[in-house]
Amino acid sequence: MTDQPWTAICRVDDIPRAGARRVARAGATAVALFRTDDDQIFALLDRCPHKGGPLSQGIVFGHAVACPLHNWSIALADGQARAPDSGCAARFAVKVEDGIVMLDASELRHHARDAGVIAIAATGGD
Ligand code: FES
Repeated sequence: MTDQPWTAICRVDDIPRAGARRVARAGATAVALFRTDDDQIFALLDRCPHKGGPLSQGIVFGHAVACPLHNWSIALADGQARAPDSGCAARFAVKVEDGIVMLDASELRHHARDAGVIAIAATGGD
């Protein structure tokens, strides 16, 4: 259980501070990678728990993202919408090693739908 295979996605510096990148998955909703202005990296399903807005295109502030569609605030650490709204975006495990951002390979295939990573595209940032 400790031998967790990780998939290298990009360098930390490939994600703009207070911005995001979208990691596409074949046959499944993409994963949004977020970099806060204090250089922490988080990963959530790129789908707002409200009506499915693309969180990777939202505004990152502190450790949250404001959905671009209706401005719900989603906590990056756990995907929870902030009150008075409620709902949760699926969270993905993320690891940074030697400046490389990695996602759990099994989660990429199976978590919140299936399939593998096929591409990474720039979104967001300031
Ligand atoms: S879809 Fe995100 S706030 Fe409505």
